[in-house]
Amino acid sequence: MRLLLAALAICVAVPSSSYAMGDDDSETVVVHGDRPAPKFDRHIFGQFAEHLGHGIYNGIWVGPRSKIPNIKGYRKDVLEALKAIRVPEIRWPGGCFADEYHWRDGIGPQANRKVSINTHWGGVTEDNAFGTHEFMDFSELVGADAYVSGNVGSAPPVELADWVQYMTSPVGSTLANERAANGRKEPWRVPMVGLGNELWGCGGNMRAEYAADLTRRYGTFVKMPAGQHVMKIASGANSGDTDWTDTMMRIAGDKIDGIGVHYYTVPGNWDHKGAATGFDENQWALTLAATIRMDKIITEHAAIMDKYDPAKRVALLVDEWGTWYDVEPGTNPGFLYQQNSLRDAIVASLNFDIFARHTDRLRGANIAQMVNVLQSLLLTEGDKMVKTPTYWVFDMYKDYQDATVLAVDVDARTYSKNGTSLKAISASAVRDAAGVVHVGLTNVDPNRAETVRVKLDGLNVTHVSGRILTATAMDAHNTFGAPDTIRPAPFTGARISGQTLSVSLPPKSIVMLDLR
Ligand code: AHR
Repeated sequence: MRLLLAALAICVAVPSSSYAMGDDDSETVVVHGDRPAPKFDRHIFGQFAEHLGHGIYNGIWVGPRSKIPNIKGYRKDVLEALKAIRVPEIRWPGGCFADEYHWRDGIGPQANRKVSINTHWGGVTEDNAFGTHEFMDFSELVGADAYVSGNVGSAPPVELADWVQYMTSPVGSTLANERAANGRKEPWRVPMVGLGNELWGCGGNMRAEYAADLTRRYGTFVKMPAGQHVMKIASGANSGDTDWTDTMMRIAGDKIDGIGVHYYTVPGNWDHKGAATGFDENQWALTLAATIRMDKIITEHAAIMDKYDPAKRVALLVDEWGTWYDVEPGTNPGFLYQQNSLRDAIVASLNFDIFARHTDRLRGANIAQMVNVLQSLLLTEGDKMVKTPTYWVFDMYKDYQDATVLAVDVDARTYSKNGTSLKAISASAVRDAAGVVHVGLTNVDPNRAETVRVKLDGLNVTHVSGRILTATAMDAHNTFGAPDTIRPAPFTGARISGQTLSVSLPPKSIVMLDLR
């Protein structure tokens, strides 16, 4: 019966008035072209680059004298790959590293820079070759906003105040003249400043009340020259800890512009998180079910924020998200290096769908992390680089940036494995400035294809094209020897009939449709 209905949907136009959700067992998505929601802020596609493992060194930065092709010390391949997906914003220098970072260690002649120990990540030496100038210039080259995370845990407020002044003041003051002497006369734009990172944990193990008081205090001294606006972002909760958000909003809500929650997708527990590849279907389902928790987490934090800020002035950011598995065998456990497979791509598309449902409050997110760390977009080894399946999802969804979100309803069966269940189909939609509607569809079921009817309410569409990301194996991934094992392909499985699309989704696939 299901197959018959699905086949009929391919060639029969269904008038919108006769359409009842849930009236049979077909997978149905309704895109409400007449129900626009707040825009999908481009900062939701933000990245996170921490001094951790090979995230910065060898990942972004090789130095100008390297044999690896580079532009002023930045890897050329990485730069080009990031520009191609229009990275809107980069958070740096941490993470846990941020609350141990002293910006003066990373300015001035390279040879004079302090060599410190990265006590948090692997105990390796940090020669500070990549400092403020290198990061700010890198952001400019990529075309991304800088999101600088300040040290609240182990430095006095004057350190952050001076750092901001060093970066943003026009020449004339001692700090700005020092910047000019170090090679940069023009001030940089610093649109986002983080007031510490994980103050409940590595940022100082603080109680929420104390952290909120410090947030007020440190935020007071983050000042911009006239004409420059800065978003002050408080260190937000660990996953679902709504008490933290409540306290932060109650005490410091009027002094901040954003609050950054962290939530990682871990299929197992923190001691045995699970492998990045070579996993079974059980792990597949556990991972995807874990990532879906993001919806509940955002909903709950947003509800607390509504209590204190009904006008939604303060933005919610998920400024760390992504999968966290056991490190690749044989690699430094402190470097958090993991492979990235089709499963990670589906994690990314599911999160973009979730983010689209919360754009009234959610105005930023940073995947952890950009290169070589956790759910990275890019992996490097020597002079080689691969684009991961997650990179390709960022590529497929890039037209969501600053586009108007359209409300979407999904009526789909449940995919289950060993008692772990989630909806088989996930979806989101936006309309971009040129009027093109983009519909993202994900089939999480690794075994079963689905024909999805997409009803286009209030939309007049005559042309559909698209791209698909899928593979035979659940853990399909790209390696340095085989960098193109998984990458998007043109999609030809969608047919328009009146105001309905019929879309054939293979098992474990992500499809992005462009409707004109
Ligand atoms: O992304 C790795 C680490 O995860 C970050 O440094 C920290 O903020 C979080 O716990």
